[in-house]
Parts: sequence; structure tokens; C-alpha cells
Amino acid sequence: MKIADKHYRTIWLGDDGWSVNVIDQTLLPHVFEVRPLKSMAAAAAAIADMVVRGAPLIGATAAYGMALATHADTSDPALEAAYAQLLATRPTAINLRWALDVMRERLLVVPEEFRRELAYGLAAEICDNDVAACRSIGQHGSILIADAHARKAANSGARNGAGAAVNVLTHCNAGWLATVDWGTALAPIYTAHDAGIPVHVWVDETRPRNQGAALTAYELGSHGIPYTVIVDNAGGHLMQHGMVDLCITGTDRTTAHGDVCNKIGTYLKALAAHDNGIPFYVGLPHSTIDWRLGDGVAEIPIEQRDGGEVSHIHGVTEAGQGTSVRLVPAGAAVANYAFDVTPARLVTGLITERGVCPASRAGLLGLYPEQAENAAP
Ligand code: MRU
Repeated sequence: MKIADKHYRTIWLGDDGWSVNVIDQTLLPHVFEVRPLKSMAAAAAAIADMVVRGAPLIGATAAYGMALATHADTSDPALEAAYAQLLATRPTAINLRWALDVMRERLLVVPEEFRRELAYGLAAEICDNDVAACRSIGQHGSILIADAHARKAANSGARNGAGAAVNVLTHCNAGWLATVDWGTALAPIYTAHDAGIPVHVWVDETRPRNQGAALTAYELGSHGIPYTVIVDNAGGHLMQHGMVDLCITGTDRTTAHGDVCNKIGTYLKALAAHDNGIPFYVGLPHSTIDWRLGDGVAEIPIEQRDGGEVSHIHGVTEAGQGTSVRLVPAGAAVANYAFDVTPARLVTGLITERGVCPASRAGLLGLYPEQAENAAP
């Protein structure tokens, strides 16, 4: 993606050939700052503190975390310790375990002297594959937006296929900042917009970390896509009044049965969409599917984060000064559940790099038949 005419991915190798650069997402949208990671511990801290976030980027950062571990020590115990420390950073996004498993399986079977080069090569490959998958999600998903636009134009009697913009509602940030490039939920929007289809995005602010208000708004604005930030509770009202044509979100973990775990509040949007007959799609690469699990509500671990994210809010003054204020009475009890699970029955379809499928075991295996033996029954 371009920022001020320069193309960026969210993670890349430093000029020294071994350190790793990321964009500090805790400072966006007010400050764009590149942060170098020079150790496995720094990569782990960047994931835990949400300097980087979003399931695919968490996986990519963990992969580079393993590479950074080999820069210091290529022994089996060092790699096992790095695996454990990186895995413990965030519990919900399955891309983290997926990327770490790829790294561990491929590294431990080669002699130590080859591990460093292999680790950096594997991490780069994981990043390149994520970009290709997200680009493909964009192509498949943009067809849904094009169809919605054609339906709108036909219903309004517009000529030459022209018509009002397609209104897409999204939650959290599942754009290029959540991946290595392109995004998952936002990739279809970028692709449709670039193809000349008019799109307007309703952006849920996404308390408590405000990934929508801060990051999705920043991304869409940088790309020139019209958007409107709304409070998290506005979606149902907009849907009742015909102001949403489709919803597209991302996911941090999707089960073999098609249950979708995503940022807290996604489930409520899916319920409202279902009640109003509005299609609810989810974009994801294969690395976000947890084939071992069936029932997402029962089986997916839900991260609970620091209550300070609920009790306080961060922003900048009009003078540009960063500040944090308390919203609740001093000492108020707060709880910070970071994710929820939307049952497959509320999901119209999964937009993957291999195409769009029903949110079901049969639907997923139709696209990924090689996983038949791994998929939860
Ligand atoms: O806590 P975060 O910001 O890492 O959570 C990310 C999300 O939940 C996003 O909604 C996203 O869809 C998943 S990553 C593409």
C-alpha cells in the first residue's frame, strides 16, 4: 500500500540484512513511525503490545521472530524457547501458531549451520504468500461488491450500469495493516474501488482499541475510498434503514465448521445483518483456518486484555498532543473480552484465496480438499 506515494508492506527486512522493520500501529493515525525489531524478544513484545496486530501480520511477525532468534543462537533449545515465548504473546489468532509451526518443523530438521539463512528465507516466503493470498481474496470478494452494485443499479433503474455506491460495513481493521499487504476484509473493497466500482464504507470505531476509527479510517482515507466512522452500536440502525448493502469482516480464527472468531462485537453485527437480510461475508487466508476445531464458541480461547483499554481512551488534542483520559469512575470494575465467535449459520460466505464458499465443513473442504484428514468431524 502507498503512504505518501511510497509503497509499504507492514513488515520488511532492515538494510543490515537481519533486523526487521514494522510500522508502529499504536501511534497511527497520528504518527507514522517505523520501528526496528532487533531481537526475538522485541518481536514478541511488538505482538503482545499490539505494535503489530491483525492475525496474518501477527503470524508474519512471529515467523521473523524465529528468524531473529536464529540470529542470536541456532541451537534446538534456543529455537524451542523462542517458539514458546512467541506463542504465548496472544492466544486467539491462529496464524501465530500456524506460522510458528511452519518455522519449527522446517528449521529443526536441518543442521544448525543452515538454520539462520533458512529461517529468514521461510519468513520472507510466509510474507510473500500472505500478500498473494490477500490479493486473491480481493479479486474473489470484489465480484460480490460488483454484483451488489449491479443489483442496486438495476433496482434504481440507472442507465449504463451506473448507480449509487455500494455501502459496505466493516468491523475492526482487516486491511493491509492487519496483514502484510492488501488486507482480508478490505482487499475486496480496494480491488472493487480500483476497478471503478463506487464503494462507501461504514467503519465501526471498534472499542476499546479503536482499530476501525484509527486504522481502517487511515487506510481507506490514504487510498481515497469514501468512508464514515460510526460508533459500534450504530450498525443495526443503519441496516434497518437500508443503508448497508453488505458486511465484510476479517477473522482471527475460523473453525473447520465455519465458525468465525473475530474482534469483539462482530457477532452482534452478524445478528443484525441476519435479522435484516443483509449478506455477511468474512475474508480470510488458509492460515486463519484452525482445522482441529469444530465448535468455535466452545473451543476458541478468547483473549482477555488489560482493563485499562476499557477504562481509558487515547487520542490527540487539537494541538496534536498525545493524551489519555479515564472514562469510568475511579476504581470501576471493567472487563475486556477482545474477541467473540459468530456461528457459521450467520455467515453468508467465506472469501478465501481459493474462492468464496459456504461457511461450513463441506464448503471449506470443497476449496481445501487436502485438509479432509485434518478437519474436525
Ligand atoms: O486485536 P487485533 O487488532 O489483532 O484483532 C484483529 C481483528 O480482530 C480484525 O478484525 C481482523 O479481522 C482479524 S485480522 C485480519
